[in-house]
Amino acid sequence: MIERTLSIIKPDATSRAITGKVNAMIEEKGLKIVAQKLIRLTAVQAEEFYQEHMGKPFFPNLVEIMTSAPIVVQVLQGENAITEYRKVMGATNPAVAEEGTIRKTFALSIDKNTVHGSDSPESAKREIAFFFSELEIYE
Ligand code: CMP
Repeated sequence: MIERTLSIIKPDATSRAITGKVNAMIEEKGLKIVAQKLIRLTAVQAEEFYQEHMGKPFFPNLVEIMTSAPIVVQVLQGENAITEYRKVMGATNPAVAEEGTIRKTFALSIDKNTVHGSDSPESAKREIAFFFSELEIYE
């Protein structure tokens, strides 16, 4: 099934100028970038985007990190894109991510873990609509 998922290239990556290297890994794995833009989140926007984590101990730090520099938000499209992108990213904690994944290759820590990807079809729908209108997504 052809799906879409929301990807974020996080501040730790944009500030190290490795957006192109992350995009190369995404494209090498057959995921198509059908929308992409560079933005800087406000704290209110970051809190809303990550609302499911509100109240968790790492939440304040997550908001601080996600607002510390620009991010690249993108829509990826492909066969089983949600699950496939999670495989390409690797585990949330780079210490346990598999070799060859984006996080194993580039992430600095669980907080500065280079990329985010939607975790379910429901999340993908909400997260894509959070950043993009249909007009901004290439068919
Ligand atoms: P992400 O996929 O963007 O979703 C929430 C983020 O919170 C996660 O990646 C991590 O960068 C960060 N985070 C920090 N600590 C934790 C934790 N213990 N569990 C899950 N996510 C964490």
